[in-house]
Amino acid sequence: AMGVATGAQAGGDKLKIGFSQGTMESSWRVNMVEGNRKYAEANLPDVELVITNGENNASKQVADVESLLAQGIKTLIISPVTADALTPVVKQAMDAGIPVVTLDRKVNTDVTLHIGADNKLIGKSAGSYVCKALGGKGNVVEIQGTAGASATVDRHDLFVETLGKECPDVKIVASQVANYVREPAIKFMEDTLQRFKDGEIQLVYAHNDDMALGAVTALEAANRQKGVMVVGIDGENAAYDAIKAGKMVATFTYHFVAPEGVQYGYKIAKGEKLDKEIVLPTHQVDSSNVDQFLGKGF
Ligand code: AHR
Repeated sequence: AMGVATGAQAGGDKLKIGFSQGTMESSWRVNMVEGNRKYAEANLPDVELVITNGENNASKQVADVESLLAQGIKTLIISPVTADALTPVVKQAMDAGIPVVTLDRKVNTDVTLHIGADNKLIGKSAGSYVCKALGGKGNVVEIQGTAGASATVDRHDLFVETLGKECPDVKIVASQVANYVREPAIKFMEDTLQRFKDGEIQLVYAHNDDMALGAVTALEAANRQKGVMVVGIDGENAAYDAIKAGKMVATFTYHFVAPEGVQYGYKIAKGEKLDKEIVLPTHQVDSSNVDQFLGKGF
């Protein structure tokens, strides 16, 4: 067709890849998006990366994916906010022949590739760590991530299972969802400190560092930090600093899948055949090795 080159036409030769992010509420997720965006910008001149933000709302994310599919993307990269709600639209993409790469969280249907650290291993490692740290006995408060997200399910289930096997006298005395966000974690911890007396809580296990740091804030505000250990996940610099300062005891690094998301998404869009899963490493960080990690997180 003739006519002036519109933006769409100018980008018409490009390989369109959709990247549906589930939420941008945590700095971890901002890093995931920025890392992939910058990599594509610098290294993949033939790619047009269309990024959407599900705002921690599964229906919003489903609509985002539908709109990406309608725009003719060649590959869908998605970090699904929850598993069940995003499964049908992912299946729809796969059935239509659009390859799907899930990042960090999973869905309940077959996809072309999943990339992320192993949350079952993290839940299990956190459980073992807590058993040892408590000497086999004590009360734990758990602060969970988003309900129905595969990361949350794995970090909870394997943690509970490991306590059951390795230290049955360690009890989870309170557990609540705080969506991987600091503010609701602070609120939950404040309420929990009202419910339990000094000396009745020995450890807080939070499904990410934002919430672990929220627990630290609440403990300090109530002057109850003494004798309460705090464990997180992600590997934020603020968490490493907190471990160094004795305010947290441990965290587990959780790769934010950049630039691997777009790197492998591109290979798939180009028709390369890859294994179905890439498992990224995780590291336990505590006072014994935190010096190697200081400033190297996000
Ligand atoms: O899905 C995993 C979690 O999502 C990360 O650990 C967390 O920080 C993020 O929002």
